[in-house]
Amino acid sequence: MDWEKYWSDKSDDRRPDMTPEGVAREGREKLLHLGSGDRLLDVGCGTGKLLSHYAPNFRECVGVERSPSMLAEARMNLRDRNIVLLHGSAEDVWEIVDGDFDVITMGGVAQYLTPNEIAAFVMRATKRLKPAGRIAILDIIHSRKGVLRMMGLGRHKEVPSGLEIVMRFGVVFARWAAWPVIAKGRTFHPDGHMYAPEFFAAIAKENGMKIDMPMSMYYDYRFHAIMEAAR
Ligand SMILES: C[S@@+](CC[C@H](N)C(=O)[O-])C[C@H]1O[C@@H](n2cnc3c(N)ncnc32)[C@H](O)[C@@H]1O
Repeated sequence: MDWEKYWSDKSDDRRPDMTPEGVAREGREKLLHLGSGDRLLDVGCGTGKLLSHYAPNFRECVGVERSPSMLAEARMNLRDRNIVLLHGSAEDVWEIVDGDFDVITMGGVAQYLTPNEIAAFVMRATKRLKPAGRIAILDIIHSRKGVLRMMGLGRHKEVPSGLEIVMRFGVVFARWAAWPVIAKGRTFHPDGHMYAPEFFAAIAKENGMKIDMPMSMYYDYRFHAIMEAAR
Protein backbone atom coordinates (compact mmCIF):
# COMPACT_ATOMS: atom_id res chain seq x y z
CA MET A 1 0.00 0.00 0.00
CA ASP A 2 1.28 3.46 -0.91
CA TRP A 3 0.21 5.23 2.31
CA GLU A 4 1.24 8.67 1.10
CA LYS A 5 -1.14 8.30 -1.84
CA TYR A 6 -3.82 6.79 0.42
CA TRP A 7 -3.86 9.86 2.70
CA SER A 8 -3.36 12.42 -0.07
CA ASP A 9 -7.09 13.05 -0.59
CA LYS A 10 -8.49 12.14 2.86
CA SER A 11 -10.02 14.65 5.23
CA ASP A 12 -10.74 12.63 8.39
CA ASP A 13 -8.51 10.84 10.88
CA ARG A 14 -10.29 7.42 10.90
CA ARG A 15 -10.88 7.46 14.66
CA PRO A 16 -13.22 5.04 16.48
CA ASP A 17 -15.43 7.79 17.90
CA MET A 18 -15.69 10.85 15.65
CA THR A 19 -18.07 12.81 17.93
CA PRO A 20 -16.65 15.92 19.67
CA GLU A 21 -17.12 14.10 23.02
CA GLY A 22 -15.20 11.07 21.68
CA VAL A 23 -12.32 13.22 20.45
CA ALA A 24 -12.25 15.10 23.77
CA ARG A 25 -12.04 11.79 25.69
CA GLU A 26 -9.14 10.70 23.47
CA GLY A 27 -7.46 14.06 23.95
CA ARG A 28 -7.69 13.72 27.73
CA GLU A 29 -6.19 10.23 27.63
CA LYS A 30 -3.32 11.41 25.44
CA LEU A 31 -2.63 14.41 27.66
CA LEU A 32 -2.01 12.02 30.56
CA HIS A 33 1.06 10.92 28.59
CA LEU A 34 2.01 14.26 27.04
CA GLY A 35 1.74 16.37 30.19
CA SER A 36 2.28 20.08 29.72
CA GLY A 37 5.11 22.45 28.94
CA ASP A 38 6.40 25.21 26.70
CA ARG A 39 6.55 23.68 23.17
CA LEU A 40 4.90 20.58 21.63
CA LEU A 41 5.56 19.10 18.18
CA ASP A 42 2.87 16.81 16.70
CA VAL A 43 4.07 14.94 13.61
CA GLY A 44 1.30 13.55 11.35
CA CYS A 45 -1.25 15.78 13.10
CA GLY A 46 -3.99 14.90 10.59
CA THR A 47 -7.05 17.13 10.89
CA GLY A 48 -5.61 18.58 14.10
CA LYS A 49 -8.62 17.60 16.21
CA LEU A 50 -6.45 16.07 18.92
CA LEU A 51 -3.92 18.87 18.63
CA SER A 52 -6.65 21.37 19.56
CA HIS A 53 -7.03 19.48 22.86
CA TYR A 54 -3.27 19.57 23.47
CA ALA A 55 -2.98 23.32 22.82
CA PRO A 56 -4.18 24.61 26.24
CA ASN A 57 -1.37 22.65 27.96
CA PHE A 58 1.44 24.26 25.94
CA ARG A 59 2.58 27.79 25.12
CA GLU A 60 3.23 26.84 21.49
CA CYS A 61 2.21 23.79 19.42
CA VAL A 62 3.61 22.92 15.99
CA GLY A 63 1.62 20.45 13.84
CA VAL A 64 3.32 18.85 10.83
CA GLU A 65 1.30 16.90 8.25
CA ARG A 66 2.26 15.27 4.94
CA SER A 67 -1.17 15.00 3.29
CA PRO A 68 -2.25 18.28 1.62
CA SER A 69 -5.97 17.50 2.15
CA MET A 70 -5.52 16.61 5.84
CA LEU A 71 -3.43 19.76 6.34
CA ALA A 72 -6.11 21.88 4.65
CA GLU A 73 -8.71 20.36 7.00
CA ALA A 74 -6.46 21.10 10.01
CA ARG A 75 -6.10 24.72 8.84
CA MET A 76 -9.89 25.04 8.83
CA ASN A 77 -10.30 23.33 12.23
CA LEU A 78 -7.53 25.04 14.15
CA ARG A 79 -7.92 28.69 14.93
CA ASP A 80 -5.98 28.61 18.21
CA ARG A 81 -3.35 31.31 18.10
CA ASN A 82 -0.71 29.10 19.72
CA ILE A 83 -0.77 26.46 16.93
CA VAL A 84 1.49 26.63 13.87
CA LEU A 85 0.77 24.17 11.02
CA LEU A 86 3.42 23.10 8.51
CA HIS A 87 3.54 20.83 5.49
CA GLY A 88 6.12 18.09 6.03
CA SER A 89 6.72 14.48 6.97
CA ALA A 90 8.21 12.33 9.71
CA GLU A 91 11.30 12.11 7.51
CA ASP A 92 11.94 15.81 6.75
CA VAL A 93 10.35 17.45 9.81
CA TRP A 94 13.76 18.20 11.37
CA GLU A 95 14.70 20.43 8.45
CA ILE A 96 11.36 22.27 8.69
CA VAL A 97 10.93 23.07 12.39
CA ASP A 98 13.12 25.36 14.48
CA GLY A 99 14.30 24.90 18.03
CA ASP A 100 13.76 22.29 20.72
CA PHE A 101 10.58 20.87 22.24
CA ASP A 102 9.30 19.69 25.62
CA VAL A 103 7.18 17.04 23.91
CA ILE A 104 7.50 15.44 20.47
CA THR A 105 4.52 13.29 19.62
CA MET A 106 3.31 11.23 16.68
CA GLY A 107 -0.11 9.54 16.99
CA GLY A 108 -1.55 6.90 14.66
CA VAL A 109 1.42 7.26 12.30
CA ALA A 110 3.85 4.48 13.32
CA GLN A 111 2.00 1.94 11.15
CA TYR A 112 2.95 3.95 8.05
CA LEU A 113 6.66 3.95 8.89
CA THR A 114 9.19 1.15 8.40
CA PRO A 115 11.39 0.03 11.32
CA ASN A 116 14.34 2.04 9.91
CA GLU A 117 12.18 5.16 9.56
CA ILE A 118 10.99 4.85 13.16
CA ALA A 119 14.54 4.34 14.45
CA ALA A 120 15.71 7.42 12.48
CA PHE A 121 12.74 9.46 13.76
CA VAL A 122 13.50 8.67 17.42
CA MET A 123 17.22 9.32 16.95
CA ARG A 124 16.59 12.74 15.39
CA ALA A 125 13.83 13.55 17.91
CA THR A 126 16.13 12.94 20.92
CA LYS A 127 18.42 15.67 19.57
CA ARG A 128 15.54 18.17 19.52
CA LEU A 129 14.24 17.57 23.05
CA LYS A 130 14.65 20.08 25.85
CA PRO A 131 16.10 18.72 29.11
CA ALA A 132 13.45 16.45 30.73
CA GLY A 133 11.52 16.43 27.45
CA ARG A 134 9.68 13.37 26.17
CA ILE A 135 8.88 11.56 22.95
CA ALA A 136 5.38 10.04 22.79
CA ILE A 137 4.65 7.69 19.90
CA LEU A 138 0.97 6.88 20.29
CA ASP A 139 -1.37 4.11 19.11
CA ILE A 140 1.18 1.64 17.73
CA ILE A 141 -0.39 -1.59 16.40
CA HIS A 142 0.84 -4.42 18.68
CA SER A 143 2.36 -7.17 16.54
CA ARG A 144 1.22 -10.00 18.81
CA LYS A 145 -2.26 -8.59 19.45
CA GLY A 146 -3.19 -6.82 16.21
CA VAL A 147 -4.17 -10.21 14.78
CA LEU A 148 -7.07 -10.37 17.27
CA ARG A 149 -8.41 -7.21 15.70
CA MET A 150 -8.05 -8.75 12.24
CA MET A 151 -10.24 -11.59 13.54
CA GLY A 152 -12.91 -9.04 14.47
CA LEU A 153 -12.28 -9.60 18.19
CA GLY A 154 -12.36 -5.99 19.36
CA ARG A 155 -12.03 -5.44 23.10
CA HIS A 156 -15.47 -3.87 23.40
CA LYS A 157 -17.30 -6.15 20.98
CA GLU A 158 -19.57 -9.06 21.87
CA VAL A 159 -17.58 -12.29 22.01
CA PRO A 160 -18.64 -14.51 19.06
CA SER A 161 -19.29 -18.23 19.40
CA GLY A 162 -16.37 -20.65 19.66
CA LEU A 163 -17.08 -21.96 16.16
CA GLU A 164 -17.00 -18.44 14.70
CA ILE A 165 -13.71 -17.70 16.47
CA VAL A 166 -12.23 -20.86 14.93
CA MET A 167 -13.51 -19.86 11.46
CA ARG A 168 -12.15 -16.32 11.73
CA PHE A 169 -8.83 -17.66 12.95
CA GLY A 170 -8.81 -19.92 9.87
CA VAL A 171 -9.23 -16.90 7.57
CA VAL A 172 -6.36 -15.00 9.23
CA PHE A 173 -4.18 -18.12 9.26
CA ALA A 174 -4.84 -18.70 5.53
CA ARG A 175 -3.87 -15.09 4.85
CA TRP A 176 -0.67 -15.58 6.88
CA ALA A 177 0.21 -18.82 5.06
CA ALA A 178 -0.45 -17.30 1.61
CA TRP A 179 1.23 -13.97 2.46
CA PRO A 180 4.67 -14.69 0.95
CA VAL A 181 2.93 -15.27 -2.40
CA ILE A 182 0.30 -12.51 -2.36
CA ALA A 183 2.00 -9.77 -0.31
CA LYS A 184 3.64 -7.79 -3.15
CA GLY A 185 5.26 -5.44 -0.66
CA ARG A 186 2.07 -4.82 1.34
CA THR A 187 1.98 -5.08 5.14
CA PHE A 188 0.29 -8.13 6.68
CA HIS A 189 -2.02 -6.00 8.84
CA PRO A 190 -4.50 -4.09 6.62
CA ASP A 191 -3.76 -0.88 8.56
CA GLY A 192 0.01 -1.06 8.06
CA HIS A 193 3.11 -2.07 10.04
CA MET A 194 2.78 -3.79 13.42
CA TYR A 195 5.45 -3.52 16.12
CA ALA A 196 6.40 -5.43 19.25
CA PRO A 197 7.06 -3.43 22.44
CA GLU A 198 10.56 -4.97 22.45
CA PHE A 199 11.35 -3.10 19.22
CA PHE A 200 10.63 0.24 20.91
CA ALA A 201 12.43 -0.83 24.11
CA ALA A 202 15.58 -1.48 22.02
CA ILE A 203 15.32 1.89 20.23
CA ALA A 204 14.88 3.69 23.55
CA LYS A 205 17.94 1.95 24.98
CA GLU A 206 20.05 2.81 21.93
CA ASN A 207 19.19 6.48 22.41
CA GLY A 208 19.76 6.54 26.18
CA MET A 209 16.04 6.86 26.98
CA LYS A 210 13.85 5.10 29.50
CA ILE A 211 10.50 3.91 28.18
CA ASP A 212 6.98 3.22 29.40
CA MET A 213 4.50 1.37 27.14
CA PRO A 214 0.90 1.57 28.34
CA MET A 215 -1.91 0.14 26.21
CA SER A 216 -4.00 2.65 24.26
CA MET A 217 -7.42 3.23 25.83
CA TYR A 218 -9.42 3.91 22.68
CA TYR A 219 -7.72 1.84 19.96
CA ASP A 220 -7.95 -1.94 20.24
CA TYR A 221 -4.65 -3.76 20.66
CA ARG A 222 -2.45 -0.70 20.27
CA PHE A 223 0.12 0.68 22.70
CA HIS A 224 1.98 3.91 23.33
CA ALA A 225 5.77 4.32 23.58
CA ILE A 226 6.62 7.15 26.02
CA MET A 227 10.34 7.90 26.15
CA GLU A 228 12.31 10.21 28.43
CA ALA A 229 16.01 10.70 28.94
CA ALA A 230 17.34 8.08 31.40
CA ARG A 231 18.93 9.70 34.44
C1 LIG B 1 -4.67 8.01 11.44
S1 LIG B 1 -4.22 9.68 11.06
C2 LIG B 1 -3.83 10.27 12.66
C3 LIG B 1 -3.94 11.76 12.79
C4 LIG B 1 -3.65 12.32 14.19
N1 LIG B 1 -2.27 12.19 14.56
C5 LIG B 1 -4.51 11.67 15.23
O1 LIG B 1 -4.01 10.89 16.05
O2 LIG B 1 -5.70 11.94 15.20
C6 LIG B 1 -2.62 9.46 10.32
C7 LIG B 1 -2.03 10.74 9.74
O3 LIG B 1 -0.63 10.55 9.58
C8 LIG B 1 -0.24 11.16 8.37
N2 LIG B 1 1.02 10.53 7.95
C9 LIG B 1 1.22 9.27 7.52
N3 LIG B 1 2.52 9.06 7.27
C10 LIG B 1 3.16 10.22 7.54
C11 LIG B 1 4.51 10.64 7.48
N4 LIG B 1 5.48 9.82 7.08
N5 LIG B 1 4.80 11.91 7.84
C12 LIG B 1 3.82 12.75 8.26
N6 LIG B 1 2.52 12.42 8.33
C13 LIG B 1 2.20 11.16 7.98
C14 LIG B 1 -1.40 10.91 7.43
O4 LIG B 1 -1.37 11.79 6.35
C15 LIG B 1 -2.58 11.11 8.38
O5 LIG B 1 -2.99 12.46 8.41
